[in-house]
Amino acid sequence: MSAKPPRFGIWALVHGSRAALQDPAEPYDASWGRNQTLVLEAERLGYDSVLVAQHTVNPHDASLDQLEAWTASAALAALTSRIEIITAIKPYLYHPVVLAKMAQQIEHISGGRFAINLVNAWNRPELERAGIGFPEHDERYVYGREWISVVDALLRGEVVNHRGDNFHIDGYQLRPADPFRARPRIYVGGESEPARALVAAHGDVWFINGQPHDDVARLIADVSARPRPVGQDALRFGLSAFVIARETQAQAEAHLEHLFALAELDKPLRERQKANIDPNVVMIQTFAQSPRVGSNGGTAARLVGDYDTVARRIADFHRAGIELFMLQFQPFEADMQRFAEEVAPRVRRLLFA
Ligand SMILES: Cc1cc2nc3c(=O)[nH]c(=O)nc-3n(C[C@H](O)[C@H](O)[C@H](O)COP(=O)(O)O)c2cc1C
Repeated sequence: MSAKPPRFGIWALVHGSRAALQDPAEPYDASWGRNQTLVLEAERLGYDSVLVAQHTVNPHDASLDQLEAWTASAALAALTSRIEIITAIKPYLYHPVVLAKMAQQIEHISGGRFAINLVNAWNRPELERAGIGFPEHDERYVYGREWISVVDALLRGEVVNHRGDNFHIDGYQLRPADPFRARPRIYVGGESEPARALVAAHGDVWFINGQPHDDVARLIADVSARPRPVGQDALRFGLSAFVIARETQAQAEAHLEHLFALAELDKPLRERQKANIDPNVVMIQTFAQSPRVGSNGGTAARLVGDYDTVARRIADFHRAGIELFMLQFQPFEADMQRFAEEVAPRVRRLLFA
């Protein structure tokens, strides 16, 4: 069991609804206004974290709206007071010196509540059409590894001298340093072998895509067995999951069927999107194994059922080592509230009664 109590977080709606884009009960809305209200409400309801995914263009369809992650996160940091803000970053989009400076600033604005989520890209046109190029899968991780080593040292306030294949940095130091802790937390999202090696070497928390309990337990065992840098705390684990919790199992299953039906309407869009996806991304291969709604594994984590069942499954994941549950819902606002009121207290009773 994770030594820490479970934490619950939400995915910000940076590109609108998570399960199906054409839902009369949840019109498409990726605006700043909606996300601002959502995150303030999540904080009020007791959620511990918000994950702000990073996409410069909407990964489903470039003609749809997309919230900008870093500017929005800075604003969220100023508006909130307790919730952890985790913002994703694709290394090719920012020089490490610039990104470290931005992260340090948001750490200050938030009073020590900021974290980055390092992700190594799957949406080819996002980088290619910007003229950045899209190196193959493992090469992206080699770049990401050098990139995070520079960012990590800068976040710690060190004077950085670095001579690598991609960056040459001479006597760079960022001030003011972090007055709250050694540096903001580093999460890593990615499932492939180089992602696992990277998180063991540089991460604090590994984000796992939603999937069944035993698969998650196997992934945790694999990564936990890897050596950590001297002096670094043991790796912690987060799980992405889409939740449908209702009073009865039948109601939850009916809502899942309803979302599957709505998701069918997005099929043409998903087919077009497929052409943009790097087929070597392990995450995508995992998703292909089971029908689901929601991104990043979604309902494959099986958090669909009556309140007690969902709470029990979450407690089981926690016993397997998951500390942070990064959740999606649809309709988001209503189900986020339902989860906070009905499921989270049940999980705490199961684990600590
Ligand atoms: C919790 C989580 C959050 C993620 N957030 C983003 C994101 O914001 N932007 C993005 O492009 N990819 C995101 N990804 C996807 C990673 O980029 C993807 O896993 C990556 O392509 C690594 O591939 P791999 O699974 O082959 O290691 C996320 C993945 C996880 C698990």
